[in-house]
Amino acid sequence: MSKAICPGSFDPVTNGHLDVFTRAAKLFDEVTVAVLINSTKAGLFTVDERIAMIQHATRHLGNVKVDSFHGLLADYCKNQNVTAIVKGLRAVSDFDYELQMAQMNSQLGVETLFVATNPEYSFLSSSIIKEIAKYSGDVSALVPENVDLALKNHFSGRLEA
Ligand code: PNS
Repeated sequence: MSKAICPGSFDPVTNGHLDVFTRAAKLFDEVTVAVLINSTKAGLFTVDERIAMIQHATRHLGNVKVDSFHGLLADYCKNQNVTAIVKGLRAVSDFDYELQMAQMNSQLGVETLFVATNPEYSFLSSSIIKEIAKYSGDVSALVPENVDLALKNHFSGRLEA
């Protein structure tokens, strides 16, 4: 069985990420979206909230599951018996950092495959989504519906959905 990991912070997941998960799910028998637990950086959403949002947004993809990890991604991949990392490349600005990580992960025994992001989403990032949502900008076309709702709830001071 071919297995891949799509790792990231996903704070929150965007339609650009979903496009990468969907395409990875066509190439591999099983895809795990793995949310990094970063104890040094508090996110807007907790890891559990991010996982719940991704699970909801990928519920139509039968071979995609969602998990979290801490420590080295290469160690997590080995523990899960996964030999491929799949990541989206948006623009040249992503390249240096992604290449460095891919080369290091290769040294650690796990290869990385890049998919060219759909141009429709090449300007998208979780950070920019949070910035727009914070000032009540409309991000409904750029994130799954449940994420849009969670952002609205967060920035209007109400409890998360
Ligand atoms: O969405 P992000 O924040 O760009 O994702 C970065 C991520 C989670 C893929 C990267 O930070 C990572 O793999 N972190 C785990 C620690 C690790 O393995 N570091 C060495 C990478 S070569």
